[in-house]
Amino acid sequence: MHLAYADVGPGPAVVLLHGFPLSKAMWQEQLSGIGSTYRVIAPDLRGHGESPAPEGVYTMDEMADDVIELLETLHITEPIVLGGLSMGGYVALSLVARHPRRVRALMLMDTRAGADTPDAAQGREATARAVLEADKATPVVNAMLPKLFSKLTLEKRPERVEPMRTVMEQTTPRGIAGALRGMAKRPDRRADLAGISVPTLVLVGEEDVITPPAEAKALADAIPNARLEVVPHAGHMAPYENPAVANAVILRFLKSLEDRR
Ligand code: MLT
Repeated sequence: MHLAYADVGPGPAVVLLHGFPLSKAMWQEQLSGIGSTYRVIAPDLRGHGESPAPEGVYTMDEMADDVIELLETLHITEPIVLGGLSMGGYVALSLVARHPRRVRALMLMDTRAGADTPDAAQGREATARAVLEADKATPVVNAMLPKLFSKLTLEKRPERVEPMRTVMEQTTPRGIAGALRGMAKRPDRRADLAGISVPTLVLVGEEDVITPPAEAKALADAIPNARLEVVPHAGHMAPYENPAVANAVILRFLKSLEDRR
């Protein structure tokens, strides 16, 4: 699968994986703010943005293997810094578990390592069917948009919310259903966390209601070499909602990696 991607900047590669049902557009402030110092690569995961949306269930492993294929296309053989938000974090955890030599550091943002509960998996299947039936993204946009952002962003910053609404609305029903069914099937990766040996940044928006700070703390506590950073004035879309603080945190983390070299 050939993924669409953005690729900006010089230096060591930092790969950023977006959440569901979004696209590389959510990383625009990281592409500009971090891409001056690092090579920031942001793919559209399968079924999202400008990447193909084949029929079928998109497992997190398959999405991770698409990213490996992209690295190969770009001739990137050095281990990367791998970041993922929410679904992008599920994909990052799959990639690091199965291709550990590809990763020199992890950034897990507004995400979790556990699997879906049976109820959550059933809810995803119902949403997948609703989206396919409606033949548009609207059911998932209406369900998710209010949960993605902090209350203040939702009420007072339409210039932040509306571009993401547009991205979500442009995601194809087939892509949405594929990703929902793939997330519903994802394994519980909590047992893997103790074996992650690379430096890890766990970042979360202080008002994230989908993967709240308590969940981020549990994730950071379970990874031996992890640090937790809580981004103020932000919900589930922390690096997009508060890029000033998120970029400062990310740049500090990236700098700490260079200092270790
Ligand atoms: C996301 O932001 O990627 C989603 O909230 C992930 C999920 O539905 O579990």
